[in-house]
Amino acid sequence: MSAAVHTNEITVAVDDAQPASRGGFATRLGFILAAAGSAVGLGNIWKFPYITGVYGGGAFVLVYLGCILLIGLPLMYAELIIGRRGGKDVFGALRSLTEKQGVAGKLMSYATGFLSIASGFLILSFYAVVAGWAIHFFCVSLGVIPGATLGDKTVFAGVAGNAWLSSAWHTVFMLMTISVVMLGVHGGIERVCKILMPLLALILVGLLIYVGMTGGLNESLAFLFAPDFSKLTGEAVLEALGHAFFTLSLGMGAMITYGSYLKSEKHVVRDGVSVAILDTVIALTAGAVIFAVVFSMGGLDVLGKDKAGPGLVFQSLPLLFAQMPGGTIVAVLFFGLLIFAAWSSAVSLLEVVVAYLVDERGMNRTTAAWLMGWAIWAVGLASAWSMKVLGFLDDITTMYMLPLGGLLIAIAAGWMLSKKDRESGFSAFGNVGGALSKGWTFTIRYITPVLVAVVILAKVGLLKF
Ligand code: TRP
Repeated sequence: MSAAVHTNEITVAVDDAQPASRGGFATRLGFILAAAGSAVGLGNIWKFPYITGVYGGGAFVLVYLGCILLIGLPLMYAELIIGRRGGKDVFGALRSLTEKQGVAGKLMSYATGFLSIASGFLILSFYAVVAGWAIHFFCVSLGVIPGATLGDKTVFAGVAGNAWLSSAWHTVFMLMTISVVMLGVHGGIERVCKILMPLLALILVGLLIYVGMTGGLNESLAFLFAPDFSKLTGEAVLEALGHAFFTLSLGMGAMITYGSYLKSEKHVVRDGVSVAILDTVIALTAGAVIFAVVFSMGGLDVLGKDKAGPGLVFQSLPLLFAQMPGGTIVAVLFFGLLIFAAWSSAVSLLEVVVAYLVDERGMNRTTAAWLMGWAIWAVGLASAWSMKVLGFLDDITTMYMLPLGGLLIAIAAGWMLSKKDRESGFSAFGNVGGALSKGWTFTIRYITPVLVAVVILAKVGLLKF
C-alpha cells in the first residue's frame, strides 16, 4: 500500500515539473498587449527617432515601413506559428516541428535555439543599462537627484560616464525585469503589460496633444512623412532593415516563445498584424512628439549625421524640456514612458532564456529567472563600465545576430515545417485564407530570406551598394 502511495506521490511530483503546467496567456488581449509590450521599447522611443534624424527623415521612414511589410509581417507570423504549433521554447518548438527533416531539422533547432538564447542574453545586458539611464533621467526630472537639474548639459555624462551610477540603475532595472518574469507568463508578464501598455498609450497621446498646442507638430510631420530621396543612402536602407527586426522583437525567438503560450492558432495572423501596427504607430507617434519638441524650440541643430545621434533623447531633449512651459511635467511623463516601454520589452528578452531552462532543463521558473537574471546583470556591467562595449554589443546583435536568426527562422518556417503546421493560422479566413497562405509561403520562402541575406552580406562587406 505504502509503496503504491509512494509511487503516486512520485508520479505527481514528476508531472508538476512537466511543461503541461507551463502556463500561458489567459486572454487574447493579454497576449496582444504582452507582444506589443515586447515590440514597443527603447527601439521605438530612443532608437527610431534618432536614426530617422540621422538618415534625414521621410525617405528613411518610407523604407522602414516597407521593411516592416516585406520582412517584419511575414516573420512575425512565422515566429508566432512556430511557437504555437511547437508549444515550447525556441529550441524545443523547432525540434518537434522539424523532426521529419532528420539531421537537418536537428541542426536547425540547435543553431536557432543557441543563437536566440545568445542574442536574448546579450541584448538584455546592454538594454538594461540604457533603460537604467532612463530611470536616472526620470528621477532627475522629479527633482530627487541632488545636484542634478534637468536642463544641465552634464546630466547625461554624469550618469553614462559614471560606471558606479550606471551599474546601480542597471541593477534596479534588472530586478524589475526578474521580478516580472519570475511570476510567470500570466501572473507576471501578462498582468504587468496589461497595465503598462494602456498607460504608455495614454502618456503618448497626452504628449502629442501637448506638442499639438505648443507648436512644431507641422514641421515634425513634414520631416517624418515628406520623403526626400536624395538623402537616401545604401547605408540607410540597411539600417532600416536591421531596425525592422529590432523594433518588432524578431530574429531571436521572442515571438516564438510568446506564441508558445497561446491556446489556439485561430487569431495568430490578425494578432500578429495588430502587434506590428501598434508598434509602428507608437514609433511614428513618438517620433512626431520628439521632432515637434526639437522644431518648436527653434529647430535646434540636432538632426543629421554626426549630430545628436544616440544622444537625441538623453542629451538634446532634456535641454529642450527645461526651456518649455510645463517642461518638467513633460519630462517626467516622457521618461516614465521610456521606462515602461523598456520594461515590457526586457521581460520578453529574459523570458526567451528562462523558457529554455524551464522547458528543456526542467528548471523551476523562479530559479531560472534569478539565475539568468544575475548572469545577464553581470555581463551588463561591462556595458555600464564602457560605452564602447555597449555600442559593440548593440551592433553585433542588431546587425548580425538578429538578421541571422531571422534568416534561419524564415528557412525553417518556409522550407522545413509541414504544410499543415505552416498554414494552420490561415484556416480561420476561409477562401481568402488560401490566397493569404500562398502569398505568405512565397514571401517567407523567397523574398524574406533573400532580402535578409543581402543585408547580412552587405554588412560583412561582401556586397557593395
Ligand atoms: N523590440 C524592442 C524594442 O524595440 C526590443 C526587444 C525586445 C527585442 N525583445 C526583443 C529586440 C527581441 C530583438 C529581439 O526596443
